[in-house]
Amino acid sequence: MVTEKKLFIKTWGCQMNVYDSNRMADILHPLGYRAVDTPDNADMVILNTCHIREKATDKVFSDLGRMREHKENRKAGGKKTLIAVAGCVAQAEGDVILDRAPYVDMVFGPQSYHTLPEMIIKATGERVINTDFPVESKFDSLPTDHASHKGPAAFLSIQEGCDKFCTFCVVPYTRGAEYSRPVAAIIEETKKLRDRGVVEIVLLGQNVNAYHGEGVKGLGGLIEAVAAVDGIERIRYMTSHPRDMDDELIAAHGDIPQLMPFLHLPVQSGSDEILKTMNRKHSADHFRDIIARVRKVRPDIALSSDFIVGFPGESEKHFEETLQLIRDVGFTASYSFKYSARPGTPAANMQGLVPEKAKDERVQVIQRLLYDQHEKFNKATVGKTLDVLFDGYGRSENQLHGRTPYNQAIHATTDLNNFGKIVKVEVSGATGSSLTGLVA
Ligand code: 5AD
Ligand code: SF4
Repeated sequence: MVTEKKLFIKTWGCQMNVYDSNRMADILHPLGYRAVDTPDNADMVILNTCHIREKATDKVFSDLGRMREHKENRKAGGKKTLIAVAGCVAQAEGDVILDRAPYVDMVFGPQSYHTLPEMIIKATGERVINTDFPVESKFDSLPTDHASHKGPAAFLSIQEGCDKFCTFCVVPYTRGAEYSRPVAAIIEETKKLRDRGVVEIVLLGQNVNAYHGEGVKGLGGLIEAVAAVDGIERIRYMTSHPRDMDDELIAAHGDIPQLMPFLHLPVQSGSDEILKTMNRKHSADHFRDIIARVRKVRPDIALSSDFIVGFPGESEKHFEETLQLIRDVGFTASYSFKYSARPGTPAANMQGLVPEKAKDERVQVIQRLLYDQHEKFNKATVGKTLDVLFDGYGRSENQLHGRTPYNQAIHATTDLNNFGKIVKVEVSGATGSSLTGLVA
């Protein structure tokens, strides 16, 4: 019998980091580590970090300060605490962290966390840094059972890294070259998750639709294979690039009933000039055309996107073109960010910096428009009866949290036995962020 230890993981950033954090918990499960929701009394703390926008490192250091106190308090009581920094900040700034925070025991990047058990043994004697890039061996050596998974929906990483080199983005540097996992491994993981009660799979990748595993035709082909696994009732995927929306994937939206009518397709800007300097390799009209083709096969599809405002050289005219694209397409839940220069990326050296004040104004305008569109979309579902997968507990008794096919968050009063099930819910209320409903 191994003694039980408490593991606290704090996760920043994208769903891939959430997946990685879950897998870290799975790897440490056989060693007796059990995930807890607060750092109090934790024997091991992992900060799984994100480097996509600025201030990430500052945030990590401010959390590390608190963890240092935690470690010292426990030390005074004769207890040992391991502190680890994982993820993309660790990958990019591992040396800085080890230098500035002597109480950190381990620093490792997104491609090396499968060696956590070894790192833990080593860390009892010395400090450990592991920022290698051996992607394949990571997936090969992760446990296939998801021992710590709870709930009916699960993330599944199928692809990592990116070769697109958008000029603003750190991902090609922190996550490395594009890599697709073999189909067989993905199907095996799907079945293991299904055996744990999972009915919804969210296929993840930094550039998920660049997926090119052997034996299937791109992501569309993989979705077909996952849909064929008995018991899988819902499939989603994220995050996609417009350049990789191939015919098979678009057709899948019309042909595969399990593929949910929701597409997150970042466009970043509606201006061809800005798209060019961002190295996106597509135009605004190319994006409009993809949307038209997806809508042709799946007219009710809900669309979401990412936008960057204040990219170097962005004039009021360019910004207006982005707003026009948003008005033309019509989105649901979308994200918009003020451009932040990331060291080492080509855009960090570009001329034509947009003043902070203009960025602030633009982000407010774009967020208002996106919120209004989301609210309009949500309100249009009031009175409809939708299939909701209940995946969490609500704020009050007899309330569950769930997701509609369009990925809308919904709270409904219901028998708690409906947790984990897909149930018909009549939508009774809507705001720009979520819905309320009654079990029909
Ligand atoms: N500045 C602002 N936003 C960025 N993103 C990526 N890099 C930057 C940056 N340097 C945004 C993009 C991407 C999302 C995940 O984060 O919109 O799609
Ligand atoms: Fe970054 Fe996405 Fe562009 Fe790749 S496609 S460089 S992950 S923004």
